[in-house]
Amino acid sequence: MNKKATLQYGDTSYEMPIVEGSYAERGVDIRNLRKDTGLITLDSGFMNTGATKSEITFINGEEGVLMYRGYPIEELAEHSTFLETAYLLIYGDLPTKTELASFANSITYHSMLHEDMRHFFDGYPSLAHPMAILSSMVCSLSAYYPDSLEPDVHNHEHIARLVSKLRTIAAFSFQKKQGRPVAYPRNELNFCANFLHMMFSHPAEPTYEPDPELVRALDVLLILHADHEQNCSTSTVRLVGSSQASLYGAISAGICALWGPLHGGANQAVIGMLGEIQDEGGDCSAFMRQVKDRQRRLMGFGHRVYKDFDPRATILKTHADRLLKYLAIEDPLFDIAQQLEEVALSDPFFIERNLYPNVDFYSGILYRAMGIPTEMFTVMFALGRIPGWIAHWKEMMEDPEVRIGRPRQIYTGATKRNYVPLSDRP
Ligand code: CMC
Repeated sequence: MNKKATLQYGDTSYEMPIVEGSYAERGVDIRNLRKDTGLITLDSGFMNTGATKSEITFINGEEGVLMYRGYPIEELAEHSTFLETAYLLIYGDLPTKTELASFANSITYHSMLHEDMRHFFDGYPSLAHPMAILSSMVCSLSAYYPDSLEPDVHNHEHIARLVSKLRTIAAFSFQKKQGRPVAYPRNELNFCANFLHMMFSHPAEPTYEPDPELVRALDVLLILHADHEQNCSTSTVRLVGSSQASLYGAISAGICALWGPLHGGANQAVIGMLGEIQDEGGDCSAFMRQVKDRQRRLMGFGHRVYKDFDPRATILKTHADRLLKYLAIEDPLFDIAQQLEEVALSDPFFIERNLYPNVDFYSGILYRAMGIPTEMFTVMFALGRIPGWIAHWKEMMEDPEVRIGRPRQIYTGATKRNYVPLSDRP
């Protein structure tokens, strides 16, 4: 195989090296293109642009393959825990028993928020979206840990703090919205059990004991969301981090990027859409006709990378079915979701465009069953994605080739013209 690509431009041909990945995926290295030819590449939406080499996550969208550090997502969802997967993503290998215990311990002991920060919650209006609270609170952590202003990948405390405090902030924002006092973390509980305790403990009720089935379901959900290579929010974290901004600032920006309905906000939008279909009488075929007429969008369907199936959706559908049976819940929205999937999988419109359920299609059904309100769904996505964001930030900061992220453009505005004083303008 020729390791160079040739570009013919005018009378000259230019050779560019081919870069090859672990699974023989290939890219043309265009770093010297502008210097050598005066040309830049134009790729709106980065449909075809590799921003970096990475050792963290591999996706083969044509075959529905997703692996973290070489481990298939199916195996991690079956056997791992969220904290173990977080360690794997951030540090590169599955931890030994001692490493896992030390990681878990440091996350446990960083779970409290500074008491002053707890008062921040009082300042938000009751209608504030929890993602607005999450992004600003995470950014505010940099005010409490000023050494973070000089980013240092070897400072593991900031990493543990982020994973741990993001969970506390998420749960506190929910309790405040309910008008209840926050529930402080309990150090004897594991990561997911502690989150459920902080979410659902009620001061007037007996001590909340998290149901192991809910804890396991949450572990699986968070594992499935933990990383997805160069998606919109992760690319945002890398871009902001490339300016040497603090880790908290970069993650806060990533949270905002995740919030949009085409990205992590889709899980909230899916439940909204299923609810609308239910309110309109539950006619899935009529809804799908509107989607094909482009009057509506089928949220939770389609993906930039997956063109066969999203393995995360397959796992989540099984877990949704299992959890609803375990809790003896009959959720009409789950029935509607399955009907939509059935219609889509046999309709040429969706088949031709490779549209399949993505991770957001069934995740909301699980969150609902766990008692998590719709507005919190994207916060749950952020809680799962935090190890991935950190892993990418760390990888970028450790890369000797990294430079500040700064795309170019093709300018199409007015050419030079002289200033006209206001009194002379028509
Ligand atoms: N419903 C109806 N049509 C769709 C959908 C959809 N959900 N997704 C894509 N299409 C159509 C689109 O209209 C286009 O058709 P045509 O070629 O005739 O104009 C074709 O499929 C290609 O779509 P695209 O918008 O060019 O694809 P994209 O790669 O730019 O967008 C996407 C990917 C995920 C933003 C898009 O599929 C979408 O909007 N899905 C719904 C929102 C959603 O579920 N987002 C969560 C993504 S997974 C979680 C995450 O990591 O963010």
